[in-house]
Amino acid sequence: MLLDSYPNFISGSLLAQTLGISRVAVWSRINKLRLQGIDIRAIQNVGYRLVGEPIILNKNLVYAWLEHINYRNCQLFIYDSINSTNIETEKLLTENTSKLPIVVIADKQTNGKGRLNKKWTSPSGGNVYLSIGFKPNVEVLKLRKFTLYLGMQIVKLLRNEFNTEKFMVKWPNDIILNEKKIGGILTEASIDSERVNSLIFGLGINLYQTPKLNRNKNKLKPTSISHELGIEPSLHPLTARIIKMVVKSYNNCINQKIDPNFLSEWNEYDYLNNKDISVLKGDDLSKGNCQGIDHDGNLLLKFPNGSKKSFSSGEIDLLQ
Ligand code: BTN
Repeated sequence: MLLDSYPNFISGSLLAQTLGISRVAVWSRINKLRLQGIDIRAIQNVGYRLVGEPIILNKNLVYAWLEHINYRNCQLFIYDSINSTNIETEKLLTENTSKLPIVVIADKQTNGKGRLNKKWTSPSGGNVYLSIGFKPNVEVLKLRKFTLYLGMQIVKLLRNEFNTEKFMVKWPNDIILNEKKIGGILTEASIDSERVNSLIFGLGINLYQTPKLNRNKNKLKPTSISHELGIEPSLHPLTARIIKMVVKSYNNCINQKIDPNFLSEWNEYDYLNNKDISVLKGDDLSKGNCQGIDHDGNLLLKFPNGSKKSFSSGEIDLLQ
């Protein structure tokens, strides 16, 4: 109710009446919220007003924001610390499918997973570590472009949220801001006879904390949105909007509602376009100029002799 009336005050009597409790009980609950770091202003005979949210992940606020944006159709699990939200989601998907999707969020991960078996350093303090688990039971083909589509959707959401076009996607799904990496997606699926049994969408965004610097000069430096944009982003509304958007995008993929030409939009968000890059696949290293992606979402590389090659996977670095 505080969120719904934001930025205005809501009277103590309206809160009391709606919740069926006394005004003293309202006052005591407001104080409990304050102890959790939620900044609420009170003026006698006027009421209560939300002033600020804590940076630390707060379960009540995630629920409240999901309510506020009218999204209730998921099972939410929130942890202070977890090994990896992807691993936890996988576990929950095998034990508990009474309501899907399953959403797992944590303030910190002790064993965060990145792409290509790398570690995703996941310190506590306002970053997004989020996984969403689905049981699609559809043929693999329907979800082939899921990760690319989602990478683009996340970048669109961030551009919109922070009112800047500086966010880009680096194939297949690194999230870039000011030539540095602020996030990544790790999608994991279990497939049986060409059908996708379970699908886990994992997203990490450095909102406040920057993991240690990568010393390799060809690798993109990690950074955080707060550091790059000089702002204090609100973790809870962003998390809620991401959850709603990912579930909607997933449903669009499953129901074949995405524009088959969505890949033509890619250029608008593509960080690698026209850059000289290397692609490492197994032991093979290829160097050339990136020419965007083909209609299947493969990365296109043009070699100095004019020939082209497409890659369905690989580790991409910029050539300096
Ligand atoms: C990458 O290598 O760029 C992908 C990083 C994905 C990290 C996220 S954080 C939430 C989820 N849980 C994990 O263990 N990994 C993903």
